[in-house]
Amino acid sequence: MGNKFVMVGGGSTQSPGILEVLRQRSKELNLTDLVLYDIDQERVDLLGQYTKMYYGEKGSKVNVTYTTNIDEALTDADFLFMQIRPGLNKQRAIDEKICIENGLIGQETCGLGGFSFAMRVIPAVLEIIRKVKEICPNAWILNYTNPEAILSEAIYQEFPEAKVLCICDMPISIEGAIAKYFGKVHRDLTFKYFGLNHFGWWTQIIDEHGIDLLPQLRNDVLSGKIDTLLMSNEETIGDDYWIETYKQMISLFKRFPEYFPNCYLQYYLTPDEAFEHLDPGFTRGDYVMQGREKRIYDECKRVIANGSAEDSGLHAGVHGNYIVDIAYAIIHNTRERFVVNQMNHGAISNFDPEAVVEVPAYIGSVGAETINIGKIPTFQKGLMEMQKAYEQKTVEAAMTNSYQVALEAMMLNKTVPNYNIGKKVLDELYQANINYWGEWR
Ligand code: G6P
Ligand code: MN
Repeated sequence: MGNKFVMVGGGSTQSPGILEVLRQRSKELNLTDLVLYDIDQERVDLLGQYTKMYYGEKGSKVNVTYTTNIDEALTDADFLFMQIRPGLNKQRAIDEKICIENGLIGQETCGLGGFSFAMRVIPAVLEIIRKVKEICPNAWILNYTNPEAILSEAIYQEFPEAKVLCICDMPISIEGAIAKYFGKVHRDLTFKYFGLNHFGWWTQIIDEHGIDLLPQLRNDVLSGKIDTLLMSNEETIGDDYWIETYKQMISLFKRFPEYFPNCYLQYYLTPDEAFEHLDPGFTRGDYVMQGREKRIYDECKRVIANGSAEDSGLHAGVHGNYIVDIAYAIIHNTRERFVVNQMNHGAISNFDPEAVVEVPAYIGSVGAETINIGKIPTFQKGLMEMQKAYEQKTVEAAMTNSYQVALEAMMLNKTVPNYNIGKKVLDELYQANINYWGEWR
């Protein structure tokens, strides 16, 4: 019997890259059935029709279907690839704008944009997992849905035994860029990393001879030899936002040269500098809507109107390959090393054992077995503790709809300078999300 994969949020703009990798690697995954599931009829129709044509014309034997019926999608499913976005990029841009107009970073995962997104996404994801437990309890869920840091905390609190792996393509993208800098291939390097999602550090980069390359990278940055890294993730190359983000990451490493930072740390440690690049009139959400969204759905419409996908192509990049590599590791029990978000359970010895952390793990048919990190230094630990408290309070706010809890969460987010601004932004976000957040208590 072959494997049935379901793309939850199959109509999303993040789907095409994954669909291409699934097509190319269908044999090694023993993939026979692929379902695009989404609550958005129009988008899933577009991507579903496109994918059926595209796979068919490329000679794929995979049976592709698409639906808005979750029960049908989940029946006999073996793997779910989940990336949903309640409110779409439209709501993302609204949140970003509100934050930026109040002088705050509105980033959809780190800033209060992330708080708002979490309030929309947590109930939706928990509902899907409940369905999975009922309809296909043996299926693995590989989750890319953001804000991954907060969402993974909600998932593991609610379903400690669930077969869910919460992943992010940022560590692999940055590791790929580092490998490229040293002229190495990623799999020959061992990356030591710890933190929370979009909030972590690399402590060592060990090559195939056992030599740590981090000191050389540090020297090259401190001496001014390099001020950025060439990207490994084709999806981000040439995108001004990512070009700036990579420069900021190196500049952050220069100021805090102990460990190499995940690029998202700039939003907490140098928000003033990050803020200079933000424009409430044209946010990242606006950029994505006018770029990737328009491009993808226009292409689907063109192909459907032509009745052929022969002159159309999808691109297989880091984002698609990473999630497929993880599915492959589970199916073939490879116990390969990946960075995932998992319950700490002592991996970081001086951090809350019952909190989710982002650490390397070996992945095989039993899931992820995290690698022991040991003790982390006070600087990183202190930052992580406040951020973790913010994440946990945000989960509590989503579960209880309590205004007071939401306010406390805001105060724990490092991008919020004081009560008055936090409360003002919270109230504005609430008004703008009235159809998604539910009633406050
Ligand atoms: C990276 C992060 C994701 C995030 C994405 C944003 O891949 O790891 O968590 O969703 O960037 O990309 P976008 O083009 O939507 O701003
Ligand atoms: Mn991410």
